[in-house]
Amino acid sequence: MSASEDIRAELAAIEALAAEALAGAADLGALRSAEAELLGRRSALAALGSRLGALGEAERRQLGADLNAARARLAELARTRSDLLEAARREARLEEDRLDLTEASLLGPRAWVRGVPERGRLHLVTRTRDELEDIFVGMGFGVVEGTEAETDWYNFEALNMPPAHPARSMWDTLYLDLGEPEGVLLRTHTSPVQVHLLETVGPPLRAVMPGRCYRKETPDARHLAVFHQIEGLVVDEGIGFADLAGTVEVFTRAYFGQEMLTRLRPSFFPFTEPSAELDVTCPVCGGAGCRTCSGSGWIELGGAGMVDPNVLDAVGVDSERWTGFAFGFGIDRLAMIRAGLDDLRALTDNDLRLLHQV
Ligand code: PHE
Repeated sequence: MSASEDIRAELAAIEALAAEALAGAADLGALRSAEAELLGRRSALAALGSRLGALGEAERRQLGADLNAARARLAELARTRSDLLEAARREARLEEDRLDLTEASLLGPRAWVRGVPERGRLHLVTRTRDELEDIFVGMGFGVVEGTEAETDWYNFEALNMPPAHPARSMWDTLYLDLGEPEGVLLRTHTSPVQVHLLETVGPPLRAVMPGRCYRKETPDARHLAVFHQIEGLVVDEGIGFADLAGTVEVFTRAYFGQEMLTRLRPSFFPFTEPSAELDVTCPVCGGAGCRTCSGSGWIELGGAGMVDPNVLDAVGVDSERWTGFAFGFGIDRLAMIRAGLDDLRALTDNDLRLLHQV
């Protein structure tokens, strides 16, 4: 065999072996080291190249080209294998990261006790809000949502509280650093949605407006700085206080059942006249007086009253023709009372032992 035939035969053998090794690399690490070994400077291929110098010009050229072609084929093979392994790795990662959301439900509702994550569910406050909406929808109300950031006009002024009105101190307000100083705030109640609704839709209307509210307040058993209210507004011709009392009665029966004692107590709000507060018997002490109700035996659910004509006038609704009533109840308190919690803060502690009970 001539020297060139010898080299050609060796090249074929080296390529065959190298191709097999590259195609068989089990993972990206193995592929990288096979590449270095088979195509690198110390490879059999490189050693073969250095032997070409001893050949004549024409043979050297021909074999040099063959060698380069073999190297190119092997490099291409390595690339294909690399792409394949890369894709497989990605796939394996995805598979690993996948959350099996069916697992917990298959394991049963108390799987969390054994340290297995349980399927999530809606928070008590959210479920209460949904239920309240259902009750009012059943009574013919629509459901409307407002925004949590409001201007002073919607939260106070249009509700019959001009700037510096003393009643504003009933709501400790958190202001946003936007626009005029103290011009934009986090709504302290859902009543501003009444104003939006009167402005955009106008009477006759009958709607509830649930949502989150904010007050600069130190949380205690009956107060949270971030809490939820459900506002109600009915405006039509000939609406009177009896309509308000009847609606509140039907609602409290639907939500609490027949046994719960409730009362409407005279009160004051700048945007209703007359105004009342809705109380229910404290579920913790049954009315005897305890820490939860501060010894009064009653828990306040929120305010209500006949819409003050000034509110209607502020948005251009004819207060001679239209009358209405409004209410604003605390959703968290409604949830707390029916679940028999003695402290509102339990709703935001995220203690799973409690969340699993309520
Ligand atoms: N917005 C009042 C509050 O948060 C409650 C209320 C609503 C009172 C509607 C009367 C009418 O205290």
